[in-house]
Amino acid sequence: MPKATIIDGKAVAAKVRNEVKERIELLKAQNKRIPCLAVLLVGDDPASTIYVRNKMKACTEVGMLSLPVILPAETSEDALLSKIKELNEDPNVDGILVQLPLPRHIDSQKVTKAISPAKDADAFHPINVGLSRLGEPSFLPCTPSGVIRLLDEYGVEISGRNCVVIGRSNIVGKPVADMLLARNGTVTVCHSKTQNISEYTKNADIIVVAVGKAKMLTGDMIKEGCTVIDVGINRIDGKLYGDCDFISCAEKASFITPVPGGVGPMTIAMLLENTMRAYGSI
Ligand code: GUN
Repeated sequence: MPKATIIDGKAVAAKVRNEVKERIELLKAQNKRIPCLAVLLVGDDPASTIYVRNKMKACTEVGMLSLPVILPAETSEDALLSKIKELNEDPNVDGILVQLPLPRHIDSQKVTKAISPAKDADAFHPINVGLSRLGEPSFLPCTPSGVIRLLDEYGVEISGRNCVVIGRSNIVGKPVADMLLARNGTVTVCHSKTQNISEYTKNADIIVVAVGKAKMLTGDMIKEGCTVIDVGINRIDGKLYGDCDFISCAEKASFITPVPGGVGPMTIAMLLENTMRAYGSI
């Protein structure tokens, strides 16, 4: 039997989505404009197609409008940039996201920078990255803010605790580390060049693992009573695994997220919340 409380990301995500739904119902009752998220997909990558479909379905479920912009793989960078410009200027569009990865002939950084920072539902624009680093009001990236929300919902104290983030991606590792630091955690970032990761994880109260390597964090690497947040999604023979070895970690941790059903559902929930922020309702 696992010792750990299993953090129910599906339930917390449902709560966040419900909060958004209630706000939209209120807007509808007041005959106000309904928030709208534009979702751009270039090409037909199967995983991206599913992600985009799930994002639009989530919008519909909470009563939010979604504007799908599905473009062929051979769309030119200029054509994509002018579509983004049009959406930036459209007063009925609140949030804009461009599903990544983009086809190789398109410069994703250029595209990310073309989205108005005020409509940046993914919070990937350098302006939002910079503002959040400075602790100023800004959009926050969805998966990292989902991680923090899970810790808060389960009453896991961050202030003064040893936090170890494994992974240093721009989308997860770096922003999670910043957010834990902003909440007064003592933060260490480990990565592929870190020697002896378990020296760090053994002293950690909170471990966030986001490296994309199945079962890399094992029970013998962690402290009794710690919290493990697993951001990994690794598909092996059609089955999903996180970055931690759930069985051995759950025997020692106090709190742990499962995969699937942990951090995953939070990402879309926070995307909806960001769109509400872009609308001006939060
Ligand atoms: N591709 C993988 N993750 C994401 C994400 O969070 N946002 C976007 N736009 N594309 C992604």
